[in-house]
Amino acid sequence: MTEVLTVILAAGEGTRMKSSRNKVLHKLGGKPLIGHVVGLAAGISEKVVCVVGHQAREVKKTASRYGELEFVRQDRQLGTGHAVQQAERYIAEHQGPILILYGDIPLINTSTLTGLVTEHQNRQAGMTILTAEMDDPAGYGRIVRDSSGGIKAVVEEHDTDSETAAIREVNSGIYCFNSQLLREALKQLDNDNQQGEYYLPDTMHYISKRAPLIPLKAEDPREILGINDRADLAEAEGILQKRIRQKHLASGVTLLDPDCTYIEPGVEIEQDVIIYPGSYFKGSTRIGSGSIIGPGCQLDNAKIASEVRVRQGSIIIGSQVDSGSTVGPYAYLRPGTEIAESCRIGNFVELKKSRVGRGSKVPHLSYVGDATIGSSCNVGAGTIFANYDGENKHQTVLEDEVFVGSNTTLVAPVKLGRGSSTGAGSVVTKDVEDNSLVLGVPARFYRKK
Ligand code: UD1
Ligand code: CA
Repeated sequence: MTEVLTVILAAGEGTRMKSSRNKVLHKLGGKPLIGHVVGLAAGISEKVVCVVGHQAREVKKTASRYGELEFVRQDRQLGTGHAVQQAERYIAEHQGPILILYGDIPLINTSTLTGLVTEHQNRQAGMTILTAEMDDPAGYGRIVRDSSGGIKAVVEEHDTDSETAAIREVNSGIYCFNSQLLREALKQLDNDNQQGEYYLPDTMHYISKRAPLIPLKAEDPREILGINDRADLAEAEGILQKRIRQKHLASGVTLLDPDCTYIEPGVEIEQDVIIYPGSYFKGSTRIGSGSIIGPGCQLDNAKIASEVRVRQGSIIIGSQVDSGSTVGPYAYLRPGTEIAESCRIGNFVELKKSRVGRGSKVPHLSYVGDATIGSSCNVGAGTIFANYDGENKHQTVLEDEVFVGSNTTLVAPVKLGRGSSTGAGSVVTKDVEDNSLVLGVPARFYRKK
């Protein structure tokens, strides 16, 4: 594709969201609206410029996380045409086509945008407008066609009469412009309308006299959904979730109740994974083949290997579980936890920044923080790793084949040697030698095993 300059409009506040945060900072599929649009633009453009105004600092910071782009300011939001005028110096330098995207239209497909630019180039158009047929066109600018099927005007919602209000073909807000004609047309714009705004679509009146004005209808109107209020945001989330679920279903994932499964776009799930209802998958979570998750689990940046069972109500954040292990019900794996192969992490167990070695078990009601547990250990019910002395966090080490009696408290820093054991109810404050049994409060050496 020829070199495209993309201008993203994101200066408006989005008052209809009823929010203290700028509209484009609101999240869809776990990613801010502006992030979706910047990601799209960066993939197909030579340069991306974003027009910011309301909460400019936050919008810039957020947008920059999703691609390389430049910013221009629009201090007063006098309309979409006025917003594009602020990017004048970039438009002046650019020879190829100029694509306009709105920060509040996040669901558009890359193929639709490349199709728009290609059509624009092939037809040597002055302006190519993406339109769509909506069941409910309320809130959008209506496309008025002339007798030969060309576009006569875009009539904004506020400027409609009963006849134009009934038109179901709407302006998506996405256009491709010839750069020279856009430059000229922007100079002619006025704000003679109900809202007293400089409307970008009005550039068509200048351009259409000099080059073809091409309407291109999107196949799926859901792609161009503009997010103006919370209802739109919820609708967009529904559309996005449906797309994501369909992708996973098609690639061999069983979702027992797709409508009750929430999956963010960056999540990867291998074949033959079974997901019970009410589960929630976030960030860059990966789930290996044959694993069974749920019901009601939350996985956030979790790395789950194959054949893992994550039972009801478990939460796994920033942690890894290797193959053949089971977690839960109601386990809580906090960031920095690594569970090796064939482990059992049982009910009401919390782990934080801890490693559990191959084949080890923490089956019931324990807190494990800042610990390294070797292989083939058993941590009895109710064991607490007392890692915090009120000022600092300390490490606990269990070497291989350690057996911790029920209701033991391990006061960190402390190390339990290979093959050692603690009696039930012990409070261990000193290191335990290999193959020894300690018990009592505080725990004392009892005998070699
Ligand atoms: C706009 C279109 C409408 C189209 C609809 C599609 C105009 C005049 N109307 O209406 O035809 O059907 O989008 O969703 O273009 N913005 C600025 N500066 C401004 C005004 C807006 O940067 O001065 C930005 C907003 O932040 C937003 C985008 O432009 O990202 C669209 O603005 P919005 O007010 O939502 O326009 P609509 O009324 O939806
Ligand atoms: Ca809008």
